[in-house]
Amino acid sequence: MTETPLDPLSALAVRHGTDKYGEHLYTPDYHRLFAHLRDRKLRLLEVGVGGYGYPDHGGQGLRMWAAYFPHAHIVGLDLHPKRLAMPANVTIRQGSQDDPAVLDRLWHQDGPFDIIIDDGSHQVAHVLATFHHLYPRLPDDGIYVVEDTQTAFWPEYGGTPPGTGSIHDLAHSIALGLNRLEMEVAGPVALDTPYAAITHEVRFLRNLIVFQRGDNTYPSIRKFDVGHPGVRAVLQHLDRAGHEAATPGPWLTRAKIAFSAGDMVAASIAAATGLARFPGNPDLTQMLALASIRPLMPAAHEIR
Ligand SMILES: C[S@@+](CC[C@H](N)C(=O)[O-])C[C@H]1O[C@@H](n2cnc3c(N)ncnc32)[C@H](O)[C@@H]1O
Repeated sequence: MTETPLDPLSALAVRHGTDKYGEHLYTPDYHRLFAHLRDRKLRLLEVGVGGYGYPDHGGQGLRMWAAYFPHAHIVGLDLHPKRLAMPANVTIRQGSQDDPAVLDRLWHQDGPFDIIIDDGSHQVAHVLATFHHLYPRLPDDGIYVVEDTQTAFWPEYGGTPPGTGSIHDLAHSIALGLNRLEMEVAGPVALDTPYAAITHEVRFLRNLIVFQRGDNTYPSIRKFDVGHPGVRAVLQHLDRAGHEAATPGPWLTRAKIAFSAGDMVAASIAAATGLARFPGNPDLTQMLALASIRPLMPAAHEIR
């Protein structure tokens, strides 16, 4: 039987003896998520050092991260004091993950963090308290991972059945809220969508939830706003590409954006400019025609 080679993070997990590979299978997914960040000078916080009440036990996960991210500063937080020999790029702090003063001090001393991994008590209330306190502080592109989310269903961890307030439910509401601007188009939204405007991505894996920070205010196609900074950046790219590219694509996209924003003059100008370079292009011809007749069409509320 041929053996599938281990990815580099799983190989480090095996070397250091963390349960992130073996009892669990997190490291292949972590490698998929983090491989492009390996050389970055980032700051990673892992809640839960391991070894529980034994001061000279634990630290396997921290050693793995320290080897995987050689230029990063790795910080571990544990409820219990630790007396562990660690690589130079690792710091261990003591305190409880549900204590706001501990988290504030940690952020002040060792932050801002780019990646946070919660592998601490796994008590539902603690997981939520840590997330609410730290997730909003992550920078754009920051990543927050909650491990062992199966505990959210297990009573001894304060777990309850699905739909009754665990980290899964919070993650679901954020995931749904990623589309809140599209929902708003249909009418006022009554959704409680905390963090939806600052989240780019929510990934559900088995026993693992990954949240990636990112601005999520880019306007909906049905309510386009060319004044939005994200749209302005896109328009700059399109303008540059329109003058440099040998295809009608940038002019077509420029015209469509203006059309969606309700600016038929700008849509016509973009389509006409593109047509001057690509005479007879059917898509640009259609855009020009649409932009010309749009002002003559009744608005939706005028149609009975
Ligand atoms: C599963 S172990 C962590 C394993 C480690 N992350 C690794 O991969 O090697 C969980 C750790 O969380 C710690 N812990 C428990 N309750 C905590 C709390 N309220 N705040 C911080 N850490 C806590 C425990 O002492 C234990 O060492």
